[in-house]
Amino acid sequence: METVIKNRVKTEVKSGTFRKLGFSALETVEIVQPMNVLLANYHIHYQKMKNFHWNVTGKDFFELHALFEERYREAAERIDELAERIRVFGQTPVSTLTEYLEMAEITEVTAEFRSDQMVEETKSDIQTLLCLMVEVADAAINRGDAGTVHMMNKAIGKMEKTHWMLTAWSKADQPVFS
Ligand SMILES: [Fe+2]
Repeated sequence: METVIKNRVKTEVKSGTFRKLGFSALETVEIVQPMNVLLANYHIHYQKMKNFHWNVTGKDFFELHALFEERYREAAERIDELAERIRVFGQTPVSTLTEYLEMAEITEVTAEFRSDQMVEETKSDIQTLLCLMVEVADAAINRGDAGTVHMMNKAIGKMEKTHWMLTAWSKADQPVFS
């Protein structure tokens, strides 16, 4: 697939025929590629949040069961926004589980986690997603793509707040001056 894209970019850039939203084929690929990587990672994260929502046990069950549902619902919204933004560029979002598993840095986990491990895993995923969002925003900023930058800025702000809340939750049972 990458070779096909490369050849297409070469042809279109060479002939000067490609313009989509004012971006060249090359600029489009440079913006869309990190978006597809983010999309793949989000999908693995989404499924992990479902896994945790279904399989969490313990005294925190009600709290965490609801939290993980909130997380997968938010992930589903981001996934849809990202895929549709890629379509706005006339490109095809990666859409198969095989591709997601191949492309994603975030990995699947079993259902055997304790509740505190689930929270740590969620925080770690969020850190990865934040780094990838910054990469998308950088690619968009460098090419003057204000629409994608705006979308990423909103998502980054929300995600950072979630990370802070999960960090506060993990520290709840520790002494203040530990
Ligand atoms: Fe449910």
